[in-house]
Amino acid sequence: ERDRIVLGIESSCDETGAGLVRLRGDGTVQLLSDAVASSVDQHARFGGVVPEIASRAHLEAMAPTVRRAFDEAGLALSDVDAIAVTAGPGLAGALMVGVAAAKAYATALGVPLFGVNHLGGHVAVDTLEHGPLPPRCLAMLVSGGHTQLLLVEDIAEKITQIGSTIDDAAGEAYDKVARVLDLPYPGGPPIDRMAKQGDPAAIAFPRGLTGPRDSRHDFSFSGLKTAVARYVEQEQRAGREISVPDVCASFQEAVTDVLTAKAVRAARDHDVDTLVISGGVAANSRLSALAAERCAAAGIELRVPRPRLCTDNGAMIAALGAHVLASGAKPSPMDIPANPGLPV
Ligand code: KG4
Ligand code: ZN
Repeated sequence: ERDRIVLGIESSCDETGAGLVRLRGDGTVQLLSDAVASSVDQHARFGGVVPEIASRAHLEAMAPTVRRAFDEAGLALSDVDAIAVTAGPGLAGALMVGVAAAKAYATALGVPLFGVNHLGGHVAVDTLEHGPLPPRCLAMLVSGGHTQLLLVEDIAEKITQIGSTIDDAAGEAYDKVARVLDLPYPGGPPIDRMAKQGDPAAIAFPRGLTGPRDSRHDFSFSGLKTAVARYVEQEQRAGREISVPDVCASFQEAVTDVLTAKAVRAARDHDVDTLVISGGVAANSRLSALAAERCAAAGIELRVPRPRLCTDNGAMIAALGAHVLASGAKPSPMDIPANPGLPV
């Protein structure tokens, strides 16, 4: 069978993404281009994503970003065989911009449209980096918006959520703790950097939902965030100077300890021997080191896409679209809605 080109469009949060991939006759998928425009700087002073600002930024960035994806790949619009777009989950207004754009391109080019799930995209992107996934694997998505454990039995049609955060996402905890410590937004990178100079055992922060009677595969990070805030407040009230590196290292150790322990446990419970970690927090240096250590000890193969592919982008949506196309699934109807609460 001949190669097919898939355009992927992403706009669920603060990144406008357009990516192109090649679906080969043998079912493998190759990355051709990955153009991303981010409105993160416009949200920084609010300490989190402001939906109205994100929607407006998508509107302005969409067409130029799609153009850039084609320029980078050296392809023309007429080369596209199918279009995939994030149908959800995400911010309603932000999703709507991408879905409307994808419908317009699909209609103008006369090619099929596939509305796909953003979370599936975060998993599918790994096939661009490490090749086909095994028949069954576990994926842990950790970002500013999601913290989920997914059992992947077929990337195109069978992904089951087996655990998730019951309150804050892991990245959200980083962002909130950064605020408490007067570090810039997004908080992950500065905390990761600071933690390298600190002692991870300096302060005993709580490990949420790790008690014997707690849910085995769910997460909770809001208690940890509150514990950090309380610690900082107490020390300041007592007139003691806090060590920001020690707070960062101890907080980071609590987050990554729980994430890796639960991922390994879920892999064992579901009898899978491959773990994919994706999402913005997958860029964390301690998370990848601890995951590598614990996966090696448990005989689990660890796959972490490069940081650029872990954060929101269009190539991940194109990758999932390519797998869906290869599966022979029917295209989405042209009136497919943006669905902010789309389940996996
Ligand atoms: O996937 P992403 O770019 O956007 C979504 O939330 O979907 O993830 C962004 C999140 C932010 O919360 C940011 O603080 C976190 O990922 N992050 C990190 C690191 N780099 C980004 N968290 C911990 N360590 C990092 N190195
Ligand atoms: Zn995401």
